[in-house]
Amino acid sequence: MQEGRVQFNHMLNYDELVIKYNVSGPRYTSYPSSPFWIQSPTQEEWIQSLNQAFISDQSQGAALYIHIPFCQSLCSYCGCHKRITRKHEVSKPYLETLLLEWQLYQSQLNRKIVLKEIHLGGGTPTFLSPDELRFLVEGLMTNTTLTDDYEFSVEADPRVTSEDHLKTLFQLGFKRLSLGVQDFDPKVQKAIHRVQSERQIEALTELARQIGFTSVNYDLIYGLPFQTTGSMERTIESVLRLRPDRIAFYSYAHVPWIKPAQRRFTEADLPHSVKKRELYELGRKAFESNQYREIGMDHFSLETDSLWKATQEGSLHRNFMGYLHRQVSPLMGLGVSSIGDSWVSFAQNEKQLEVYEKRVRQGELPIARGHLLSPEDEVLRRHILNLMTQMKTSWDASFQSISNFRDIFSALEALQEDGIIELTSSSCRVTQRGVPFLRNVCMAFDVYLIKKGSQANVFSKTI
Ligand SMILES: C[S@@+](CC[C@H](N)C(=O)[O-])C[C@H]1O[C@@H](n2cnc3c(N)ncnc32)[C@H](O)[C@@H]1O
Ligand code: SF4
Repeated sequence: MQEGRVQFNHMLNYDELVIKYNVSGPRYTSYPSSPFWIQSPTQEEWIQSLNQAFISDQSQGAALYIHIPFCQSLCSYCGCHKRITRKHEVSKPYLETLLLEWQLYQSQLNRKIVLKEIHLGGGTPTFLSPDELRFLVEGLMTNTTLTDDYEFSVEADPRVTSEDHLKTLFQLGFKRLSLGVQDFDPKVQKAIHRVQSERQIEALTELARQIGFTSVNYDLIYGLPFQTTGSMERTIESVLRLRPDRIAFYSYAHVPWIKPAQRRFTEADLPHSVKKRELYELGRKAFESNQYREIGMDHFSLETDSLWKATQEGSLHRNFMGYLHRQVSPLMGLGVSSIGDSWVSFAQNEKQLEVYEKRVRQGELPIARGHLLSPEDEVLRRHILNLMTQMKTSWDASFQSISNFRDIFSALEALQEDGIIELTSSSCRVTQRGVPFLRNVCMAFDVYLIKKGSQANVFSKTI
């Protein structure tokens, strides 16, 4: 950043850029972004697009995302799709529905499914007991085979994850663990209604490594209420001491009109724009001085982790689960609100638990919405994915036939004037100074945003 300030001192300085580009915008875990999905596939179209993806599958196996929506208590910042309950009797019927949904896929796809990846996310997968986790994974494995290089990963809330959970998950084939850490500061933890000790995280991390997990990720968030430079320094110091293989350093997405629990703290307690970005920069510098590498947007990994190797080899991928070290297609989503991706189509399940369960029990795939990509969507999706994973993209003369080509190019020229990208007639590359504004660069290619104008009430702020 310092280098940028010197080189571009005839332009806006860094703080002015942060203020200028801190607008509402998508996080680009998909393109088109889900609020712009307009062309839902029918069940038949979805199955057909999955079959097509299986036929052209380079990865020789599919990925499965399974959503466990239950959490024992509500973290007030949370933007995830969850249901808060302490009644553990909800789990068994839900797991039975998940397995029914899987059987629907198996019969409708009419093929023996080979899986390369399973991701258990939520909500809180470790809300389930170890026996329930075993019931789920063993049930999924009926009539399913795995590739030799299969990988299973799981998100775990440290407050409800036991030694028995980790041992069972490892026996079932899980080697990647992601722990929700968020922040270690007691005042911040109280404000976000998520109190957990450093000792708890340390014990689970050590245990996971002893058991054999090969990659441990910590989720952290910057921009939470009461975070200060001092509190963030202490959190980062603790994280560095525990040395996870990966760190997801998320920008707090403040969307109280969608997640009313975020109104439990006042906006005046949140660090905004320049202050918020300073917290990220503090983390970035500390991580990079301690052998971590920045991956795409908001992620860091040790050089020994596959995420860094993928960045080097150009195989880094991004989807609804964040950054992944490889692209596995197709992705099928099981469970309430889960999203599947066949590259030419997205399909999202019902978000209401009762509606989801009812539709599956009636023998229907519970798709509520989605999007069949047009050829133009596919081209723009590729450019946005290139930018999010490689910080650059290039095109040929046919790109000029994109409907909003002139708008795209003039937005790119404006970004170039601010020193955010280097632009040629057939390529653009994000500069070092431009990295914090990666979402804004992707927005230049987003024809839906261009057509619809400002979406202040849909997306969180880009900084
Ligand atoms: C499903 S949760 C992780 C698993 C588990 N439920 C837990 O909290 O430990 C996924 C992650 O999303 C992130 N997250 C949730 N709400 C967010 C928000 N509003 N802004 C940014 N990140 C958020 C958190 O870092 C959280 O760990
Ligand atoms: S952050 Fe995790 S544990 Fe907290 S409410 Fe969200 S999904 Fe549940």
